[in-house]
Amino acid sequence: MTHTAAAGLLLCCGAALAGNDAADLSVTGYRAHVPTRPMLAVATHPQSKKPPASAETRQSGAHFMSAATQAMQNDDRQNPAMLWVAGGETLWQTPAGKANRACAACHGDARQSMRGVAARYPAFDSKVNHVVTLAQRIELCRQGAQQAAPLAPESDDLLSLEAYIGMQSRGMPVAPPADEATRAAAERGRLRWQQRIGQLNLSCAQCHDDNWGRKLASAVIPQAHANAYPIYRLEWQTLGSLPRRLRNCMTGVRAEAPPYGALELVELEAWLALRARGLPLETPGVRP
Ligand code: HEC
Ligand code: HEC
Repeated sequence: MTHTAAAGLLLCCGAALAGNDAADLSVTGYRAHVPTRPMLAVATHPQSKKPPASAETRQSGAHFMSAATQAMQNDDRQNPAMLWVAGGETLWQTPAGKANRACAACHGDARQSMRGVAARYPAFDSKVNHVVTLAQRIELCRQGAQQAAPLAPESDDLLSLEAYIGMQSRGMPVAPPADEATRAAAERGRLRWQQRIGQLNLSCAQCHDDNWGRKLASAVIPQAHANAYPIYRLEWQTLGSLPRRLRNCMTGVRAEAPPYGALELVELEAWLALRARGLPLETPGVRP
């Protein structure tokens, strides 16, 4: 693709990307949203290719947010995600399932037993013989240890447990495991990251490696580090998972998003963790 064509595609899908769910992305819906000025700003920009964000230039998504949104994330009394964290703490203590056991009955005080855990997921799990995300690891204990019914993706209970466990690693560096199986999954995720997808024929890398910091409609393209999940997204008006965010970017380029739990999403998560290695965890994050 020529640079001009790339610019054109970026312009055309800006409004779509700013929207979140498939409903926003119908051709008519998205045309109706097209704001002209910010897009012109991108159009007149020469499409110089940026070097991939290196250790020196890597920035959390929080860096690209307004001061007000940053303040909301940084102050626990203002951060709406703390409601889910509190709910997660309650669930942690509550017996559940046929086993009638609480997470705490086996794991004790999460502040100790879960410290650093979120920082090293996704990770290969030898029992199920594939890489699992933190949410999937929680589900393994729900269904296995507690003998409880599965929690739906994006359900408040699952997000609350994930946020509560994630919180115990806040400030710690993202530390993906270096075992062969986890690394192989991350490598498959990296290949997907570079693959052009959707009707707009764009890869994740074209936006997040080559054009981060630029504006797409009203949104600034971040570097796509997944170091704050689950996030309270102002546009969603609720807490949401990393897979939900990834699916949004996929529908944004008019690609079919894989269902929750799909290996494709797990492997992308593994790549994002490797790519964000060393960045401090901000969970629970706030994003525009
Ligand atoms: C056309 C450009 C574009 C493409 C292609 C794209 N994204 Fe995004 N992505 C965005 C924008 C813009 C945002 C921020 C949206 C906002 O702030 O409202 C974003 C946000 C994200 C975030 C959230 C980062 C944070 O700080 O929480 C992640 C993770 C992400 N994208 C991953 C991906 C992946 C994986 C792909 C490929 C499947 C992809 N994106 C494809 C434009 C893009
Ligand atoms: C009956 C005991 C038991 C209960 C109840 C239980 N777990 Fe576990 N959990 C384990 C064991 C044992 C492991 C170690 C992994 C393994 O070998 O399965 C584990 C591992 C984990 C891990 C991964 C830790 C790591 O270091 O990677 C997480 C996260 C977790 N459990 C969360 C939960 C949550 C959340 C609940 C409640 C919803 C829960 N567990 C309930 C026994 C339990």
